[in-house]
Amino acid sequence: MNLSDLNKVALAMVTPGKGILAADESSGTIKKRFDAIKVESTEESRRDYREMLFRSSEAMSKYISGVILYDETIWQTARDGTPLINLIEASGAIPGIKVDEGTQALPRCPGELVTAGLDRLAERLKKYHERGARFAKWRAVIDISSDIPSMTAIHVNAHALARYAALCQAAQIVPIVEPEVLMDGDHDIDRCYEVTQHVLNTTFEELRIQRVALEGMILKPNMAIAGKKSAKQAPIEEVAEKTIRLLKACVPAAVPGIAFLSGGQSDEAATAHLNAMNRSSGLPWRLTFSYGRALQAAPQKAWSGKPENVAAGQRAFTHRARMNALASKGEWETGLEKKAA
Ligand code: 13P
Repeated sequence: MNLSDLNKVALAMVTPGKGILAADESSGTIKKRFDAIKVESTEESRRDYREMLFRSSEAMSKYISGVILYDETIWQTARDGTPLINLIEASGAIPGIKVDEGTQALPRCPGELVTAGLDRLAERLKKYHERGARFAKWRAVIDISSDIPSMTAIHVNAHALARYAALCQAAQIVPIVEPEVLMDGDHDIDRCYEVTQHVLNTTFEELRIQRVALEGMILKPNMAIAGKKSAKQAPIEEVAEKTIRLLKACVPAAVPGIAFLSGGQSDEAATAHLNAMNRSSGLPWRLTFSYGRALQAAPQKAWSGKPENVAAGQRAFTHRARMNALASKGEWETGLEKKAA
């Protein structure tokens, strides 16, 4: 492992004024997104859609530091035969790859999940590196209700995240460590804070035990935020203040950057929260976005599977990428949204 090179890639992923496009939806998840815009999900439609994003030259070159791909996409070629990964590299963004294989039921823990994909991971990482991937992603999922998460779910997921991260670094790939506490429930922000604190502390303990070099990784956490079904939604400033407090308590300063997931927040809320956090000074790590839905919902709708809408889809993507890029510097204002493309 060459730590200084891993650290350089990690820092480039959180370049000030840029963030990560999470375009790594599994075939099942992208089908759900396409169903919502009435587009049939085929290998070709998925390719066309992602090609549209990667050919958004302004967004990709100015606002996007890296793109997380799904296995299908990393091997796909554009309509003109250019490998999609080359389009990303040509824009100056770094290609990355989702390497977890989704979740499975966790035995004896009703309603809880553990992420799979460690088997043969070392071989797969080698192939992805040869193809050009310089970072990877593994997502663990922790759900909140009155009686979960269990210690078991937190522990096994943290252990798998650290196993994955150590294997990535051995393959000269920067791991994005993503322990996602879901915002699906009716819990309030303080319950999310408490659970996320436990999850992050356990994750960093496992990373330490498994000798993961913190300088060569990126953390992708949820924010401290109330569940979607909670009647008590916290204001923007409270989400920002509690998320910063939580991260300061749990995330060592050696970690170069934190790139948040959007987790089902509205596009504008995800931007506003990131922006509010980046108004604070003296943070030990760079804070940016690694959004899936909050970057793609608008372009998906504008595109709706029609070739004649490609330019509109690219405009919508560029707008959201720019808004989040500004938020990564604390320079976003709600008035800028009105001037949408
Ligand atoms: P969302 O921003 O839609 O939560 O997706 C980010 C991601 O990569 C989830 O694993």
